[in-house]
Amino acid sequence: MKLTLLSFFIISFFHFSHSSPQKFTSILSFGNSLADTGNYLITGAVAFPYVGHLPYGITYFHHPTGRFSDGRLVVDFIAESQDLPLLPPYLASNKNFRQGANFAVAGATALDPAFFQEIGIGGTLWTNYSLSTQLRWFDELKPSLCKTPQECSEYFKKSLVLVGEIGGNDYNFPLVAGKSLAEVTLFVPKVVQTIAEAIEVNKAILNFTIFYSLGHIVEHDVGVVQRLTERGAMNLLVPGNLPIGCLPLYLTLFATMDKEDYDDRNWCLKKLNNFARYHNELLKSSIDQLRKKHPQARIIYADYYGAFLRFTHSPRHFGELSLI
Ligand SMILES: *[C@@H]1O[C@H](CO)[C@@H](O)[C@H](O)[C@H]1NC(C)=O
Ligand SMILES: *[C@@H]1O[C@H](CO)[C@@H](O)[C@H](O)[C@H]1NC(C)=O
Repeated sequence: MKLTLLSFFIISFFHFSHSSPQKFTSILSFGNSLADTGNYLITGAVAFPYVGHLPYGITYFHHPTGRFSDGRLVVDFIAESQDLPLLPPYLASNKNFRQGANFAVAGATALDPAFFQEIGIGGTLWTNYSLSTQLRWFDELKPSLCKTPQECSEYFKKSLVLVGEIGGNDYNFPLVAGKSLAEVTLFVPKVVQTIAEAIEVNKAILNFTIFYSLGHIVEHDVGVVQRLTERGAMNLLVPGNLPIGCLPLYLTLFATMDKEDYDDRNWCLKKLNNFARYHNELLKSSIDQLRKKHPQARIIYADYYGAFLRFTHSPRHFGELSLI
């Protein structure tokens, strides 16, 4: 009883001490289908028209919105946690982007389409709006958000910027098109380099940017974001790739009869998970370099990989329905 009361007071104390942190006043988001709130659908959704129909949107919006989900996305939950409106897709007309813009497009790659054309699979891409296009859209929008350096510094100090996950599709399209894992592995340094450049592309913003992660949101750790804001938000959080060997797409495409190809615990394809970890290791070391180069920024790696594995360990914990 005493313990319970004590816990109650401790919890109340933390609630109290965290009740007045400054919230973000805007959110900017770059990425792919994990963060797209409608851009891809607006572009015509030729490669994946299903997203324009139920069950997409069924559990929350009750109509398709272009999200690749039946409900809300991580970026929506972040916006709600900051008392901000859900991010309008940048390609939507007549929207006010003052409190946020979402540049993410489903299917987007980190590398430009030319790269995929060179390796002969340009036709399989879902979209040409790669990371560099999204960064260009941001440059176009920026003058409407702030003008003088001081105004921009004020704006971005209170702005949350999400970049990623991005890069996963750079491997998905070639693998699905039949390129070997060995060949795709050769792309990894180039993809990681492109992401690192995107992090640096607007150095003035780097100082005030936070890259936020699925992993933290899954842990309902929005308090972290708030604490970072209070400190001036000189922080970046860069998400890595998912354990793609656990994705139904790859479990289907690369299904084998050899038990050795699967890990015992999650029954995921080991080779593909090793590959995702290779990408993440390179990303982490490139983040280390950015840290040295920009000591004023705190750059944090977001462990999407680990967060996702928790879904496969204990799906019921995360709302999996019983199939009876
Ligand atoms: C991307 O651009 C190329 C070259 O302009 C074009 O042929 C292709 O249809 C475009 N792909 C998509 C998905 O828009
Ligand atoms: C980041 O902020 C620091 C301190 O205000 C400043 O000295 C530095 O030039 C800024 N870096 C960039 C890339 O704008």
